[in-house]
Amino acid sequence: MVQPAPTLQLRSSAEIPQIGLGTWPMDDAEAAAAVEAAIGIGYRHFDTAENYGNERGVGEGIRRSGIARSEVFVTTKFNRKWHSRDGVREALRHSVERLGTEYVDLLLIHWPNPDQDRFVEAFVGMRELLDEGLIRAAGVSNFKPAHLQRLLAEDLVPDVNQVHLDPYRPRHDVREADAGSGIVTESWSPIGRGGDLLAEPVLTALADKYGKTPAQVVLRWHVANGFVTIPKSGNPERMRRNLDVFDFELDADEVAAVDALADPAAPLTDSDEFGH
Ligand SMILES: NC(=O)c1ccc[n+]([C@@H]2O[C@H](COP(=O)([O-])OP(=O)(O)OC[C@H]3O[C@@H](n4cnc5c(N)ncnc54)[C@H](OP(=O)(O)O)[C@@H]3O)[C@@H](O)[C@H]2O)c1
Repeated sequence: MVQPAPTLQLRSSAEIPQIGLGTWPMDDAEAAAAVEAAIGIGYRHFDTAENYGNERGVGEGIRRSGIARSEVFVTTKFNRKWHSRDGVREALRHSVERLGTEYVDLLLIHWPNPDQDRFVEAFVGMRELLDEGLIRAAGVSNFKPAHLQRLLAEDLVPDVNQVHLDPYRPRHDVREADAGSGIVTESWSPIGRGGDLLAEPVLTALADKYGKTPAQVVLRWHVANGFVTIPKSGNPERMRRNLDVFDFELDADEVAAVDALADPAAPLTDSDEFGH
């Protein structure tokens, strides 16, 4: 077993393990097997969503492992049709039923969907769920600084903003907006979906230096930046390696060398245009 990831303290006072297991695009059966294996490896944090259609599998994997519910941190997210004060309560009820857990640790607005302009109302409903103890933390996903500003103007501060972020897409505008309000930035697709990023010479050189893989170097870069991150793997050996990044450190020059991979032309999905 790998040492479980250290936790970061959220504004709500919940503690989130800094590395979790992503579960998109697993189906229920894949998610159940992956989550059960991941708990055996040392993972204590799982990322799912209504939209992934695998919350049942994630819950099943937790139960099969035999671990206490309180020992794992579960994030889920809801779709655009629930963006209202009562809608989020309904969304949570369905998610909890599918997960088979009594509560959710972190509930996220999956996409802001500014065309329907109801994410502020949705967050008001989430704060009520938080006050009632039905969720441990309330956050957002794919929010740009302008979306965050709409919440902050109403004194609504998310615990987490989960966004597409990797060395090609450092998202400085989002990170700075998050940090300015004590919001933890969480990175999705952190290793570039296992693509070209992992062949970058700067990463392979650092991997050789530390006896690690390029994916581990990238994940260590996320950790060094203070992000929570959720690499997905269905392969137990890659799962193990993705969690095993707490026994080496990148120095400031090495972090800067990875920062230099930033590519302003790297594609990003525009959350003013896309959402579900
Ligand atoms: N909030 C949002 O809108 C949003 C959007 C997208 C994703 N997410 C979340 O973020 C999670 C992670 O993002 P992602 O799945 O898009 O991308 P990712 O974690 O960057 O990459 C996953 C891919 O990389 C492969 N992989 C895993 N570990 C590897 C390693 N050590 N070396 C080489 N390849 C490796 C995986 O294949 P194997 O399974 O075969 O190992 C999989 O194909 C998702 O699973 C989901 O939970 C959130």
